[in-house]
Amino acid sequence: MGALPQPAPAGACRVGIAGFGTVGQAVARLIRELAPAELQLTTICNRAVERKRVADLGDVRWTDRVEDLLDGEVDVVVELIGGRVPAEDWIRRALDAGKSVVTANKQVIAHAGPELLDRARRAGRHLRFEAAVGGGIPVLRAIEDGLAGDRLSRVAGVLNGTCNYVLTRMEGNHRCSFSDALREAQALGLTEANPAEDVDGLDARAKLAILALVALGLHVRPEEISCRSIAAVEPIDFIYAKRLGATIRQVAWIERDRNGSEPAVAAVGPALVPAGSRLARVTGRENVVIVSGEFGGETAFSGHGAGGDPTAVAVLSDLLAIARSAAPPRAPRAEPSAVSSDLVGPQYIRFTVADRPGIIAELATVFARHNVSIDAVLQEPGCPPARLPFVISLESCAASVVNRAITAAASLDFHVVPPLVLPILRPAPASGAQAPGAV
Ligand SMILES: NC(=O)c1ccc[n+]([C@@H]2O[C@H](COP(=O)([O-])OP(=O)(O)OC[C@H]3O[C@@H](n4cnc5c(N)ncnc54)[C@H](OP(=O)(O)O)[C@@H]3O)[C@@H](O)[C@H]2O)c1
Repeated sequence: MGALPQPAPAGACRVGIAGFGTVGQAVARLIRELAPAELQLTTICNRAVERKRVADLGDVRWTDRVEDLLDGEVDVVVELIGGRVPAEDWIRRALDAGKSVVTANKQVIAHAGPELLDRARRAGRHLRFEAAVGGGIPVLRAIEDGLAGDRLSRVAGVLNGTCNYVLTRMEGNHRCSFSDALREAQALGLTEANPAEDVDGLDARAKLAILALVALGLHVRPEEISCRSIAAVEPIDFIYAKRLGATIRQVAWIERDRNGSEPAVAAVGPALVPAGSRLARVTGRENVVIVSGEFGGETAFSGHGAGGDPTAVAVLSDLLAIARSAAPPRAPRAEPSAVSSDLVGPQYIRFTVADRPGIIAELATVFARHNVSIDAVLQEPGCPPARLPFVISLESCAASVVNRAITAAASLDFHVVPPLVLPILRPAPASGAQAPGAV
């Protein structure tokens, strides 16, 4: 770090940070390094704050009392403590005290975003949360400002860097199991304290709910978005996916009905995506968000989805937007929208069986009874007959119908592990109408 910061000019927006952890420290450092004339860091609040004190932030008030963020020395509160409690309450109190708020907290915004936005609007204050989705990728602002002139119908993305790291490790090394790759991610510090948040899709669905609000104007309750874990994906699935011209990613997507008469379709989980597609090209910890508009077609945003510095850039950009703008905040939708997970499209099913004659015929009978057509049957040579993985791909059908067929097939005696069902997402048409499940 260089010299002590210069005092901000009179009239600068006074910033109070709640939570001096990874992102909070990066934000303070960035304000200090860039020294934007519009901002002045006045207050830092953290529990047991004495442990956190650093000398080189200049004339800053250090406190462990949230009340100190609500007084006359702060114009904008930056909430970076994480979790819903007490963060949600702190944001409400800050807005009620006439402060604008910037937060990176996806859980709070996914669950209470519409209510908090409404509170901010009524208070005539801003609530911004760019860092809550895609870390350093400025996707929310780009949607709000850059795509405001389109009618957006669909958002699909790789929103969890940990899952993407795990899946691309397995893709690159077929001897690397899911647990090996997850252990590596944990050793690199990439996972949440509870890795199930990442692996089971809870992190990605909170981000998807925020994208639904900003891009589609839909207030979707995160708990209504169906999530499937990536834990059941095995290295063999990448081999079969490759034979189908695809690979596997944890994809979060939501698509709304054009007429608004049907619920939006939304889900988070592992899916086959075409090799070479934007979703397939995202590797390691990167994120991508692909937004589809009726008139402008697809727009993709990719980059670092997490990390202290990229996230701090998003926070600082929100702060500068508030400092530079006098515009009132956007009005949110009040009522939650219904959401369904019944995606229609082709499906990949990997069976792992104790081999015997007649298995394919029995499965074909089950699928025929459910009016589902088989597209292909794939079997890699050299697998042990006592634990034989093979794949059946299905022509386009509703996920609910496939689930019913799989439930019916579960009673057959040859399964060694439960079948793995993955949707096969297709390339989007070059222009015009979106196909369901297009990427
Ligand atoms: N890290 C990333 O890459 C990233 C990316 C995007 C979004 N985010 C979001 O940014 C937010 C902050 O993440 P982070 O990684 O900076 O977390 P972190 O390193 O755990 O920092 C949180 C800080 O808040 C303090 N804190 C927690 N609860 C508190 C309470 N009740 N009262 C006072 N202080 C409290 C903690 O103090 P202690 O030191 O005592 O624990 C810690 O200093 C989260 O909402 C996270 O989801 C993070």
